[in-house]
Amino acid sequence: MIKKIIKVLKWTGIAIATLIIILIITVSFRQNLQFEAPYPDLKASTDSSIIARGRYLAYGPGHCADCHGDPNSRELMLKGQEVALSGGMPFKLPIANIYVRNITPDMETGIGKLTDKEIARMLRYGVRPDGTAGLNFMPFHDMTDEDLTAVISFLRSQQPVKHKVPDHEIFAMGKVVNAFLIKPVGPSGEVPKSIPRDTTATYGKYIANSVANCVGCHTNRDMMTGAAIGPEFAGGLKMESAVDPENYSILTPNLTPSPSGRLYGWSQEQFIQRFRQGRVIPHSPMPWPSFSRMSDDELKALYKYLNSLKPISNEIKEIVVSNKK
Ligand code: HEC
Ligand code: HEC
Repeated sequence: MIKKIIKVLKWTGIAIATLIIILIITVSFRQNLQFEAPYPDLKASTDSSIIARGRYLAYGPGHCADCHGDPNSRELMLKGQEVALSGGMPFKLPIANIYVRNITPDMETGIGKLTDKEIARMLRYGVRPDGTAGLNFMPFHDMTDEDLTAVISFLRSQQPVKHKVPDHEIFAMGKVVNAFLIKPVGPSGEVPKSIPRDTTATYGKYIANSVANCVGCHTNRDMMTGAAIGPEFAGGLKMESAVDPENYSILTPNLTPSPSGRLYGWSQEQFIQRFRQGRVIPHSPMPWPSFSRMSDDELKALYKYLNSLKPISNEIKEIVVSNKK
């Protein structure tokens, strides 16, 4: 009898060990899964007005500097200055340490060797130059051809900075996630070639949804999947404090024109002034320094768009909350 049990246990053990080995092999084989996505038909330009538009997007509404800015120049970046986009800032996640890349045109450590189309495909379709799935940190999938061209033209025009950024460190659990769950994220529909830059709600909608990612933070989401679990722009997303993530969280306000919304009763002038002020709550992860550089016209368009939204009643009483209670 005992012998029989030992035998069964032995075979169960062998079966489990075999399954684990198969899982480990599958996971490691699936680390470099290749994905297909078209190369956008774009080409960097040397036209100074196109480069100027790209620079404006990178240090303004597109807030590339907020993540790609040199961490040693963070103080200057926070004052709204244009710092080198030489990367290195870590995102310390439970499943991986992700390092923001150097996007200056340095040949060895930056994007010097990438083609315009490879950069465009990464930003639009989330497929890295080597064909693997990019991590969904950058919400520019619906950026127009014209603006994407401007951004890449500006990236090319920068002074190259030699700065080797560490490779991402993916922990065991992260490797499993990477093997089975990470897929490239692409545009939500047909991407327009260009859009008139004016002060209309249509242009505001484009900035809020396809460039500045207002919708990303001001919508409640499932933090595991990123899927919306509340109405767009009605706020309530709980985020980590930018200065003390262990002890504090911060909730995003409701931006819809409801009496319970944060913007209720704000004039256009107040809205613009609020952006010029920059960050007021130190815990806030909102890229205020970049957004404070947005033009009056772009802010007018945003104001019009937010006021055109369907009012959603959702009062966010406290913005900064302690993690202890
Ligand atoms: C929220 C942070 C964040 C913002 C904002 C951001 N990036 Fe990134 N970027 C990253 C991270 C993280 C990676 C690495 C992604 C990966 O490896 O999958 C990356 C990778 C890249 C790459 C690929 C580089 C390479 O060598 O493979 C390019 C190009 C890029 N970003 C350009 C931009 C531009 C242009 C902007 C602004 C319009 C921007 N990023 C805004 C975080 C950000
Ligand atoms: C990375 C996340 C993030 C992004 C992107 C973001 N916000 Fe916010 N926003 C927040 C958080 C968190 C707060 C609350 C803390 C604060 O006031 O800074 C906030 C606050 C605000 C406020 C209230 C300010 C006040 O004084 O009460 C306004 C208005 C606002 N955001 C508008 C926008 C607009 C417009 C955009 C896009 C251009 C945007 N946000 C993009 C996270 C974000």
